[in-house]
Amino acid sequence: MEEKDVLILAIESSCDETSAAVIRNGREVLSNIVASQVKSHMRFGGVVPEVASRHHVEQITQILEAALLKAEVTMDAVDAVAVTEGPGLVGSLLIGVSAAKAVAFAHQKPLIATNHIAGHIYANQLIQPMEFPLLALVVSGGHTELIYMPEDGVFEVIGETRDDAAGEAYDKIGRVLGLPYPGGKVLDEMAHEGEETLDFPRAMLQEDNYDFSFSGLKSAVINTIHNARQKGDDLDPYHVATSFQAAVVDVLVGKTIRAAKEKGVKQLLLAGGVAANRGLRTALAAAVQEELPGVELVIPPLNLCGDNAAMIGAAAYVQYKKQEFASLKLNARPGLSLES
Ligand code: KG4
Ligand code: ZN
Repeated sequence: MEEKDVLILAIESSCDETSAAVIRNGREVLSNIVASQVKSHMRFGGVVPEVASRHHVEQITQILEAALLKAEVTMDAVDAVAVTEGPGLVGSLLIGVSAAKAVAFAHQKPLIATNHIAGHIYANQLIQPMEFPLLALVVSGGHTELIYMPEDGVFEVIGETRDDAAGEAYDKIGRVLGLPYPGGKVLDEMAHEGEETLDFPRAMLQEDNYDFSFSGLKSAVINTIHNARQKGDDLDPYHVATSFQAAVVDVLVGKTIRAAKEKGVKQLLLAGGVAANRGLRTALAAAVQEELPGVELVIPPLNLCGDNAAMIGAAAYVQYKKQEFASLKLNARPGLSLES
């Protein structure tokens, strides 16, 4: 007998995107509505938590309705309501958590509390079935982590940044160069126009661990820009972008390939907002082809790299199968870890 389809209504509001999605069987996207607040935060050069919460409140009801409408389903057909519990900004998370609890209670559906980072990893499940053991490189505005997964729903963080996340370094350097927030996307585009004329540090690349550090690189780049400005030297921002990106990509790719080799994984997944980076995607694909024969590399399409609720629905499906439901007392957990 064929198993019944499972429909999950998922909500994501951990930072500056309000999103709702309907996912069938953890793999099929029936709808994925994302309202970005980027324009509102641009004039401040970064996410302002109070502004973010207010936007989430204003958007959430309409986004939920739009997700159901686009998927052409009513709440009767939905089997569970999933929401990002953490990590993220507490005020932002709370809006999603409160909305999810209200919908689950009103329609008497089970509630699923999902980890945002697990969501980024499971975005890959929406394009290619995951095969274990696997290694995921999660690179976003708040995280840079290497995660080993021996099986579905089990996460071992084998390496992480000791200071700044890769996306954070992009955004800070973007700000110093006077680029609009968030700087990552623009710097990536500029990196393809310049040349690697500056030699920036590749922190921890040779060290015998899987950790990262980007604050030294960030300071080196910012100091180079400030020194040139003080001396009135001409510094081509395109060359800065190319040289900075080369350093970031070298470290991310170098450490990831070594970890994948040592762990003997079947699949390598790229995840998080910085997974949209063209330089990183290209370099990782080339390195996998050369150094990891037989390992399948999966990279999400651009619309699934940034924050979205479809990825939360994909991760929540694993919890649904295990009947891992949350109570209506669920609270936001801004510092939630993957291994807890
Ligand atoms: O995953 P995400 O949407 O939010 C977090 O959970 O942090 O990631 C946002 C981050 C920002 O730092 C943004 O600058 C960066 O992803 N980003 C990029 C690119 N597109 C977005 N960084 C480098 N290159 C890109 N093409
Ligand atoms: Zn994210």
